[in-house]
Amino acid sequence: MTLDISITRSDHPRSDAELAEILANPGFGMHFTDHMFTVEWTPEKGWHDARITPYAPLTLDPATAVLHYAQETFEGMKAYRHADGSVWTFRPEQNAQRMVRSSHRLAFPVLEPEDFVQAVDALVEVDQRWVPDNSGTGGEKSLYVRPFMIASEVFLGVRPAQHVTFMVIASPAGAYFKGGIKPLSLWLTTEYTRAGRGGMGAAKTGGNYASSLVAQQEAIEHGCDQVVFLDAQEGRYVEELGGMNMYFVHADGRVVTPETGTILEGITRSAIIELAQKAGHTVEERKFSVDEWRGGVASGEITEVFACGTAAVVTPVGKLMWPDGEVGSNQGEGGPLTLQLRKQLVDIQFGRSEDVFGWMHRVV
Ligand code: PLP
Ligand code: COI
Repeated sequence: MTLDISITRSDHPRSDAELAEILANPGFGMHFTDHMFTVEWTPEKGWHDARITPYAPLTLDPATAVLHYAQETFEGMKAYRHADGSVWTFRPEQNAQRMVRSSHRLAFPVLEPEDFVQAVDALVEVDQRWVPDNSGTGGEKSLYVRPFMIASEVFLGVRPAQHVTFMVIASPAGAYFKGGIKPLSLWLTTEYTRAGRGGMGAAKTGGNYASSLVAQQEAIEHGCDQVVFLDAQEGRYVEELGGMNMYFVHADGRVVTPETGTILEGITRSAIIELAQKAGHTVEERKFSVDEWRGGVASGEITEVFACGTAAVVTPVGKLMWPDGEVGSNQGEGGPLTLQLRKQLVDIQFGRSEDVFGWMHRVV
Protein backbone atom coordinates (compact mmCIF):
# COMPACT_ATOMS: atom_id res chain seq x y z
CA MET A 1 0.00 0.00 0.00
CA THR A 2 2.14 2.82 -1.15
CA LEU A 3 -0.40 5.11 -2.85
CA ASP A 4 -2.05 7.73 -0.71
CA ILE A 5 -5.51 7.72 -2.27
CA SER A 6 -7.97 10.54 -1.58
CA ILE A 7 -11.63 9.66 -1.99
CA THR A 8 -14.34 12.11 -3.07
CA ARG A 9 -17.68 10.35 -3.18
CA SER A 10 -20.23 11.13 -5.83
CA ASP A 11 -23.16 13.22 -4.66
CA HIS A 12 -25.29 11.75 -7.43
CA PRO A 13 -24.67 7.96 -7.40
CA ARG A 14 -27.10 5.80 -9.36
CA SER A 15 -30.21 5.11 -7.35
CA ASP A 16 -30.77 1.55 -6.13
CA ALA A 17 -33.60 1.19 -8.63
CA GLU A 18 -31.49 2.38 -11.59
CA LEU A 19 -28.62 0.16 -10.52
CA ALA A 20 -30.90 -2.88 -10.20
CA GLU A 21 -32.15 -2.26 -13.72
CA ILE A 22 -28.58 -2.03 -15.09
CA LEU A 23 -27.41 -5.13 -13.22
CA ALA A 24 -30.40 -7.11 -14.47
CA ASN A 25 -29.07 -6.79 -18.00
CA PRO A 26 -25.61 -5.23 -17.98
CA GLY A 27 -24.43 -6.23 -21.48
CA PHE A 28 -20.71 -5.49 -21.90
CA GLY A 29 -18.96 -2.16 -21.52
CA MET A 30 -22.08 -0.04 -21.64
CA HIS A 31 -22.63 1.22 -18.10
CA PHE A 32 -20.00 2.65 -15.80
CA THR A 33 -19.83 2.80 -12.04
CA ASP A 34 -20.19 5.94 -9.94
CA HIS A 35 -16.46 6.56 -9.49
CA MET A 36 -13.09 6.37 -11.19
CA PHE A 37 -9.49 6.18 -10.03
CA THR A 38 -6.75 8.48 -11.31
CA VAL A 39 -3.04 8.88 -10.58
CA GLU A 40 -0.60 11.00 -12.57
CA TRP A 41 3.11 10.82 -13.31
CA THR A 42 5.74 13.38 -14.18
CA PRO A 43 9.51 12.91 -14.15
CA GLU A 44 9.81 15.43 -11.29
CA LYS A 45 7.10 14.07 -9.02
CA GLY A 46 6.81 10.42 -10.03
CA TRP A 47 3.32 9.00 -9.44
CA HIS A 48 1.25 11.51 -7.51
CA ASP A 49 -2.24 12.77 -6.77
CA ALA A 50 -3.89 9.36 -6.46
CA ARG A 51 -7.60 9.92 -6.17
CA ILE A 52 -11.02 8.40 -6.50
CA THR A 53 -13.53 10.91 -7.79
CA PRO A 54 -17.04 10.78 -9.25
CA TYR A 55 -17.07 9.18 -12.71
CA ALA A 56 -16.93 12.00 -15.23
CA PRO A 57 -15.72 12.81 -18.75
CA LEU A 58 -12.10 13.89 -19.11
CA THR A 59 -11.20 17.28 -20.51
CA LEU A 60 -8.26 16.81 -22.85
CA ASP A 61 -6.33 19.40 -24.80
CA PRO A 62 -6.60 18.53 -28.52
CA ALA A 63 -2.79 18.23 -28.60
CA THR A 64 -2.69 15.54 -25.89
CA ALA A 65 -0.13 13.01 -27.12
CA VAL A 66 -2.27 9.87 -26.78
CA LEU A 67 -4.79 11.27 -29.27
CA HIS A 68 -2.06 11.46 -31.92
CA TYR A 69 0.51 8.75 -31.29
CA ALA A 70 -1.53 6.20 -29.34
CA GLN A 71 0.93 5.82 -26.48
CA GLU A 72 -1.53 3.82 -24.40
CA THR A 73 -1.81 0.55 -22.56
CA PHE A 74 -4.71 -1.09 -20.79
CA GLU A 75 -5.76 -4.11 -18.80
CA GLY A 76 -8.95 -6.12 -18.47
CA MET A 77 -9.96 -8.02 -15.34
CA LYS A 78 -13.08 -8.82 -13.36
CA ALA A 79 -14.39 -8.62 -9.81
CA TYR A 80 -16.67 -11.46 -8.74
CA ARG A 81 -19.20 -11.56 -5.91
CA HIS A 82 -19.27 -14.82 -3.98
CA ALA A 83 -22.38 -16.27 -2.39
CA ASP A 84 -21.43 -14.87 1.04
CA GLY A 85 -21.38 -11.35 -0.41
CA SER A 86 -17.58 -11.02 -0.47
CA VAL A 87 -15.92 -9.58 -3.59
CA TRP A 88 -12.80 -10.99 -5.23
CA THR A 89 -10.55 -10.38 -8.21
CA PHE A 90 -8.74 -13.08 -10.19
CA ARG A 91 -4.93 -13.01 -10.24
CA PRO A 92 -4.77 -9.19 -10.22
CA GLU A 93 -0.98 -9.25 -9.77
CA GLN A 94 -0.79 -10.93 -13.19
CA ASN A 95 -2.61 -8.01 -14.78
CA ALA A 96 -0.33 -5.65 -12.90
CA GLN A 97 2.77 -7.44 -14.15
CA ARG A 98 1.46 -7.53 -17.70
CA MET A 99 0.90 -3.79 -17.51
CA VAL A 100 4.54 -3.41 -16.45
CA ARG A 101 5.57 -5.39 -19.56
CA SER A 102 3.25 -3.35 -21.77
CA SER A 103 4.62 -0.18 -20.19
CA HIS A 104 8.17 -1.13 -21.14
CA ARG A 105 7.09 -1.72 -24.74
CA LEU A 106 5.18 1.57 -24.86
CA ALA A 107 8.01 3.53 -23.20
CA PHE A 108 5.89 4.40 -20.18
CA PRO A 109 7.03 4.75 -16.58
CA VAL A 110 6.30 1.70 -14.44
CA LEU A 111 3.41 1.67 -12.02
CA GLU A 112 4.49 -0.81 -9.36
CA PRO A 113 2.28 -3.93 -9.31
CA GLU A 114 1.28 -3.36 -5.70
CA ASP A 115 0.10 0.15 -6.58
CA PHE A 116 -1.88 -1.21 -9.52
CA VAL A 117 -3.58 -3.76 -7.27
CA GLN A 118 -4.20 -1.14 -4.58
CA ALA A 119 -5.84 1.17 -7.16
CA VAL A 120 -8.11 -1.59 -8.48
CA ASP A 121 -9.03 -2.68 -4.95
CA ALA A 122 -9.81 0.89 -3.93
CA LEU A 123 -12.18 1.50 -6.84
CA VAL A 124 -13.90 -1.88 -6.51
CA GLU A 125 -14.36 -1.28 -2.81
CA VAL A 126 -15.88 2.19 -3.31
CA ASP A 127 -18.16 0.89 -6.08
CA GLN A 128 -18.81 -2.51 -4.51
CA ARG A 129 -22.57 -2.24 -4.91
CA TRP A 130 -21.93 -2.47 -8.67
CA VAL A 131 -20.55 -6.02 -8.39
CA PRO A 132 -23.48 -8.18 -9.51
CA ASP A 133 -24.93 -10.79 -7.17
CA ASN A 134 -25.61 -14.07 -8.96
CA SER A 135 -26.90 -15.97 -5.97
CA GLY A 136 -29.72 -18.27 -6.78
CA THR A 137 -29.51 -17.54 -10.51
CA GLY A 138 -26.50 -19.63 -11.58
CA GLY A 139 -25.47 -16.53 -13.56
CA GLU A 140 -21.96 -15.33 -14.33
CA LYS A 141 -22.26 -11.58 -14.11
CA SER A 142 -19.27 -9.70 -12.79
CA LEU A 143 -17.76 -6.24 -12.65
CA TYR A 144 -15.34 -5.74 -15.54
CA VAL A 145 -12.44 -3.54 -14.45
CA ARG A 146 -10.49 -1.54 -16.99
CA PRO A 147 -7.18 -0.04 -15.81
CA PHE A 148 -5.44 2.05 -18.48
CA MET A 149 -2.47 4.36 -18.93
CA ILE A 150 -2.31 7.23 -21.40
CA ALA A 151 0.22 9.80 -22.62
CA SER A 152 -1.47 12.90 -21.21
CA GLU A 153 1.25 15.39 -22.06
CA VAL A 154 0.19 18.25 -24.33
CA PHE A 155 2.93 18.00 -26.94
CA LEU A 156 3.08 17.00 -30.59
CA GLY A 157 6.72 15.95 -30.66
CA VAL A 158 7.18 12.21 -31.03
CA ARG A 159 8.79 10.98 -27.82
CA PRO A 160 7.64 9.25 -24.62
CA ALA A 161 5.24 11.53 -22.77
CA GLN A 162 6.49 13.44 -19.76
CA HIS A 163 3.00 13.50 -18.28
CA VAL A 164 1.26 10.16 -17.92
CA THR A 165 -2.14 9.36 -16.44
CA PHE A 166 -3.20 5.96 -15.09
CA MET A 167 -6.88 5.42 -14.48
CA VAL A 168 -9.25 2.63 -13.48
CA ILE A 169 -12.89 2.51 -14.50
CA ALA A 170 -15.35 -0.34 -14.06
CA SER A 171 -18.43 -1.62 -15.83
CA PRO A 172 -20.82 -4.42 -14.89
CA ALA A 173 -20.67 -7.28 -17.38
CA GLY A 174 -22.89 -10.12 -18.50
CA ALA A 175 -21.98 -12.36 -21.45
CA TYR A 176 -19.45 -10.79 -23.84
CA PHE A 177 -21.12 -12.37 -26.85
CA LYS A 178 -24.78 -11.71 -27.42
CA GLY A 179 -26.55 -15.04 -27.10
CA GLY A 180 -24.35 -16.34 -24.25
CA ILE A 181 -22.25 -19.48 -24.65
CA LYS A 182 -22.65 -20.73 -28.15
CA PRO A 183 -19.91 -21.94 -30.47
CA LEU A 184 -18.11 -19.13 -32.22
CA SER A 185 -17.64 -19.03 -35.95
CA LEU A 186 -14.22 -17.70 -36.90
CA TRP A 187 -12.98 -15.91 -39.98
CA LEU A 188 -9.38 -16.51 -41.01
CA THR A 189 -7.97 -13.30 -42.36
CA THR A 190 -5.38 -13.90 -45.05
CA GLU A 191 -4.87 -10.18 -45.68
CA TYR A 192 -4.33 -8.60 -42.28
CA THR A 193 -1.94 -9.48 -39.49
CA ARG A 194 -2.00 -8.32 -35.91
CA ALA A 195 1.65 -8.22 -34.89
CA GLY A 196 5.08 -8.91 -36.30
CA ARG A 197 8.48 -9.75 -34.83
CA GLY A 198 9.57 -6.88 -32.61
CA GLY A 199 6.09 -5.35 -32.77
CA MET A 200 3.57 -4.79 -30.03
CA GLY A 201 1.71 -8.11 -30.16
CA ALA A 202 2.51 -9.07 -26.58
CA ALA A 203 1.54 -5.66 -25.23
CA LYS A 204 -2.03 -4.78 -24.36
CA THR A 205 -2.23 -1.53 -26.24
CA GLY A 206 -5.04 0.15 -28.12
CA GLY A 207 -3.17 0.10 -31.43
CA ASN A 208 -3.43 -3.69 -31.61
CA TYR A 209 -7.20 -3.43 -31.31
CA ALA A 210 -7.41 -0.57 -33.81
CA SER A 211 -5.50 -2.71 -36.29
CA SER A 212 -7.85 -5.64 -35.70
CA LEU A 213 -11.03 -3.74 -36.52
CA VAL A 214 -10.95 -3.93 -40.29
CA ALA A 215 -10.29 -7.66 -40.11
CA GLN A 216 -13.07 -8.06 -37.56
CA GLN A 217 -15.36 -6.15 -39.93
CA GLU A 218 -14.41 -8.62 -42.65
CA ALA A 219 -15.32 -11.46 -40.29
CA ILE A 220 -18.76 -9.97 -39.63
CA GLU A 221 -19.31 -9.44 -43.37
CA HIS A 222 -18.73 -13.16 -43.82
CA GLY A 223 -21.21 -14.00 -41.10
CA CYS A 224 -18.55 -14.88 -38.53
CA ASP A 225 -18.24 -13.78 -34.90
CA GLN A 226 -14.51 -13.24 -34.60
CA VAL A 227 -11.36 -13.02 -36.65
CA VAL A 228 -8.33 -15.35 -36.40
CA PHE A 229 -4.92 -13.83 -37.05
CA LEU A 230 -1.97 -15.73 -38.47
CA ASP A 231 1.70 -14.92 -37.95
CA ALA A 232 2.98 -11.96 -39.95
CA GLN A 233 6.12 -13.63 -41.25
CA GLU A 234 4.88 -16.76 -42.97
CA GLY A 235 1.12 -16.43 -42.77
CA ARG A 236 0.91 -20.06 -41.60
CA TYR A 237 0.71 -20.17 -37.85
CA VAL A 238 -2.34 -19.43 -35.73
CA GLU A 239 -1.77 -16.54 -33.34
CA GLU A 240 -5.00 -15.53 -31.61
CA LEU A 241 -8.39 -13.90 -32.04
CA GLY A 242 -9.06 -10.18 -31.81
CA GLY A 243 -9.59 -10.51 -28.04
CA MET A 244 -8.94 -14.14 -27.06
CA ASN A 245 -6.30 -16.88 -27.03
CA MET A 246 -6.84 -20.26 -28.69
CA TYR A 247 -6.68 -23.96 -27.72
CA PHE A 248 -6.79 -27.17 -29.73
CA VAL A 249 -7.72 -30.41 -27.94
CA HIS A 250 -6.47 -33.63 -29.51
CA ALA A 251 -8.02 -37.10 -29.44
CA ASP A 252 -5.06 -38.43 -27.43
CA GLY A 253 -5.68 -35.81 -24.73
CA ARG A 254 -2.94 -33.39 -25.77
CA VAL A 255 -3.86 -29.73 -25.69
CA VAL A 256 -2.00 -27.32 -28.00
CA THR A 257 -1.96 -23.55 -27.69
CA PRO A 258 0.09 -21.08 -29.77
CA GLU A 259 3.37 -20.06 -28.16
CA THR A 260 3.84 -16.55 -26.81
CA GLY A 261 6.00 -13.85 -28.36
CA THR A 262 3.71 -11.98 -30.70
CA ILE A 263 0.41 -12.80 -28.96
CA LEU A 264 -1.10 -11.38 -25.81
CA GLU A 265 -0.08 -13.56 -22.87
CA GLY A 266 -3.57 -14.17 -21.55
CA ILE A 267 -4.11 -14.63 -17.86
CA THR A 268 -7.01 -16.94 -18.65
CA ARG A 269 -4.66 -18.74 -21.07
CA SER A 270 -2.17 -19.49 -18.31
CA ALA A 271 -4.97 -20.56 -15.92
CA ILE A 272 -6.28 -22.97 -18.57
CA ILE A 273 -2.80 -24.44 -18.99
CA GLU A 274 -2.62 -25.12 -15.25
CA LEU A 275 -6.14 -26.54 -15.07
CA ALA A 276 -5.58 -28.81 -18.07
CA GLN A 277 -2.24 -30.05 -16.67
CA LYS A 278 -3.83 -30.73 -13.30
CA ALA A 279 -6.49 -32.79 -15.10
CA GLY A 280 -3.67 -34.92 -16.56
CA HIS A 281 -3.43 -33.36 -20.01
CA THR A 282 -0.14 -32.60 -21.70
CA VAL A 283 -0.14 -28.98 -22.82
CA GLU A 284 2.07 -27.96 -25.72
CA GLU A 285 2.85 -24.29 -26.25
CA ARG A 286 4.21 -24.19 -29.77
CA LYS A 287 3.69 -23.02 -33.31
CA PHE A 288 0.43 -24.43 -34.59
CA SER A 289 -0.31 -24.07 -38.29
CA VAL A 290 -3.69 -23.49 -39.81
CA ASP A 291 -3.05 -26.57 -41.97
CA GLU A 292 -2.66 -28.62 -38.81
CA TRP A 293 -6.00 -27.20 -37.65
CA ARG A 294 -7.81 -28.00 -40.89
CA GLY A 295 -6.23 -31.42 -41.22
CA GLY A 296 -6.72 -32.31 -37.57
CA VAL A 297 -10.42 -31.53 -37.60
CA ALA A 298 -10.88 -33.40 -40.88
CA SER A 299 -9.06 -36.51 -39.61
CA GLY A 300 -10.73 -36.40 -36.21
CA GLU A 301 -7.41 -35.88 -34.47
CA ILE A 302 -8.61 -32.52 -33.17
CA THR A 303 -11.70 -33.05 -31.11
CA GLU A 304 -12.28 -29.61 -29.63
CA VAL A 305 -11.27 -26.03 -30.35
CA PHE A 306 -11.90 -23.22 -27.91
CA ALA A 307 -10.94 -19.64 -27.18
CA CYS A 308 -10.47 -17.91 -23.86
CA GLY A 309 -10.09 -14.46 -22.34
CA THR A 310 -11.30 -12.38 -19.42
CA ALA A 311 -14.26 -10.84 -21.21
CA ALA A 312 -15.27 -13.98 -23.11
CA VAL A 313 -14.22 -16.57 -20.44
CA VAL A 314 -13.98 -19.93 -22.31
CA THR A 315 -15.96 -20.19 -25.52
CA PRO A 316 -16.17 -23.18 -27.88
CA VAL A 317 -15.27 -22.66 -31.51
CA GLY A 318 -17.77 -24.02 -34.01
CA LYS A 319 -16.22 -23.50 -37.40
CA LEU A 320 -13.39 -21.79 -39.22
CA MET A 321 -14.03 -20.05 -42.55
CA TRP A 322 -11.56 -18.57 -45.03
CA PRO A 323 -11.97 -17.00 -48.46
CA ASP A 324 -12.56 -20.27 -50.31
CA GLY A 325 -13.49 -22.85 -47.75
CA GLU A 326 -14.45 -23.81 -44.25
CA VAL A 327 -13.92 -26.52 -41.70
CA GLY A 328 -16.43 -27.40 -39.00
CA SER A 329 -15.71 -28.76 -35.57
CA ASN A 330 -16.17 -32.10 -33.96
CA GLN A 331 -17.69 -30.82 -30.76
CA GLY A 332 -21.27 -29.68 -31.28
CA GLU A 333 -22.22 -27.11 -28.68
CA GLY A 334 -18.95 -27.45 -26.79
CA GLY A 335 -16.70 -30.44 -26.24
CA PRO A 336 -16.30 -32.11 -22.85
CA LEU A 337 -12.88 -30.69 -22.02
CA THR A 338 -13.92 -27.19 -23.11
CA LEU A 339 -16.94 -27.28 -20.85
CA GLN A 340 -15.05 -28.92 -17.99
CA LEU A 341 -12.26 -26.33 -18.01
CA ARG A 342 -14.78 -23.53 -18.33
CA LYS A 343 -16.72 -24.80 -15.34
CA GLN A 344 -13.61 -25.33 -13.23
CA LEU A 345 -12.45 -21.80 -13.97
CA VAL A 346 -15.74 -20.01 -13.27
CA ASP A 347 -16.38 -22.13 -10.18
CA ILE A 348 -13.08 -20.89 -8.73
CA GLN A 349 -13.79 -17.31 -9.81
CA PHE A 350 -17.25 -17.29 -8.25
CA GLY A 351 -16.11 -19.11 -5.11
CA ARG A 352 -18.10 -22.26 -5.84
CA SER A 353 -15.06 -24.49 -5.61
CA GLU A 354 -11.87 -24.41 -3.63
CA ASP A 355 -9.21 -22.02 -4.90
CA VAL A 356 -6.47 -24.67 -4.93
CA PHE A 357 -4.15 -22.50 -7.03
CA GLY A 358 -4.42 -19.42 -4.79
CA TRP A 359 -5.69 -17.33 -7.70
CA MET A 360 -8.34 -15.29 -5.93
CA HIS A 361 -7.68 -11.98 -4.20
CA ARG A 362 -10.23 -10.71 -1.71
CA VAL A 363 -11.26 -7.07 -2.08
CA VAL A 364 -14.34 -6.75 0.12
N1 PLP B 1 -5.69 -11.95 -26.67
C1 PLP B 1 -6.18 -10.71 -26.85
C2 PLP B 1 -5.83 -10.00 -28.10
C3 PLP B 1 -6.98 -10.11 -25.85
O1 PLP B 1 -7.47 -8.89 -26.00
C4 PLP B 1 -7.28 -10.86 -24.69
C5 PLP B 1 -8.13 -10.27 -23.66
O2 PLP B 1 -7.70 -9.67 -22.77
C6 PLP B 1 -6.73 -12.13 -24.54
C7 PLP B 1 -5.94 -12.64 -25.55
C8 PLP B 1 -6.96 -12.92 -23.31
O3 PLP B 1 -6.26 -12.38 -22.22
P1 PLP B 1 -6.78 -12.51 -20.73
O4 PLP B 1 -7.04 -13.94 -20.52
O5 PLP B 1 -5.68 -12.00 -19.90
O6 PLP B 1 -8.01 -11.69 -20.65
C1 COI C 1 -10.54 -8.73 -22.18
O1 COI C 1 -10.94 -9.88 -22.27
O2 COI C 1 -10.30 -8.18 -21.10
C2 COI C 1 -10.28 -7.93 -23.34
O3 COI C 1 -9.56 -7.03 -23.24
C3 COI C 1 -10.95 -8.29 -24.60
C4 COI C 1 -11.65 -7.12 -25.22
C5 COI C 1 -12.81 -6.64 -24.42
C6 COI C 1 -10.69 -6.04 -25.58
